[in-house]
Amino acid sequence: MQIKIAPSILSSDFADLKNELKKLELAKADLVHIDVMDGNFVDNITIGAPVVSSLRKNSTLFFDVHLMVLHPEKHIEKFVQSGADNITVHAEATYHLDALISKIKSFGKKASVALNPATPVYMIENVLGIVDMVLVMTVNPGYGGQKFIPYTLKKIEMLANLREKEGLSFEIEVDGGINEETIVDCVNAGANVIVAGSYVFDSGDVSKSIEILRSKVQSLR
Ligand code: DX5
Ligand code: ZN
Repeated sequence: MQIKIAPSILSSDFADLKNELKKLELAKADLVHIDVMDGNFVDNITIGAPVVSSLRKNSTLFFDVHLMVLHPEKHIEKFVQSGADNITVHAEATYHLDALISKIKSFGKKASVALNPATPVYMIENVLGIVDMVLVMTVNPGYGGQKFIPYTLKKIEMLANLREKEGLSFEIEVDGGINEETIVDCVNAGANVIVAGSYVFDSGDVSKSIEILRSKVQSLR
């Protein structure tokens, strides 16, 4: 599967988001990862649908919206209208995952499911055939700049094995603590969509960091 780099704007300059998106376009990012946090599912509060709408007017990039909110079913319409291309919901945040995935898809959007580090893969086994992507959290959600949790690599491998065994086609995304070393482990384990926040934005040179990440994995697949 094609390796895609998805910079997370969580670590970008929120006072200058328009220009931060321009930088990602110039750097040929494959997706832009937008972290929505509600102060309930996770402690932090970040971006809501009005901000996503404003960003949409300024960018043609693929918007990968990661909802870290309780009861995401209440918010799907708003994020669809705001211009999300993919909506990812946490399996831990809803009682009715199957219905929620169908709801997102009914709007013609990509629908994905995320797992916290401690949540086992078997929790989502039944929906693997209907999701576009599985997001394996490689840190506990809530903040950028945290350290990669190594045991999550086993979950990536399990998902890649299940996908092969069942002849499925969902992508595997990783999010949290990605740098030039952990990206290699994740891609070797089977991930192909790579979220990186602090690594990309704290370096001062967005294009160069994306280029380095790509160079680390381009020979692996
Ligand atoms: C964490 C978010 C991530 C975050 C990753 O809850 O979901 O997308 O931005 O940041 P880094 O790459 O700095 O770990
Ligand atoms: Zn995220």
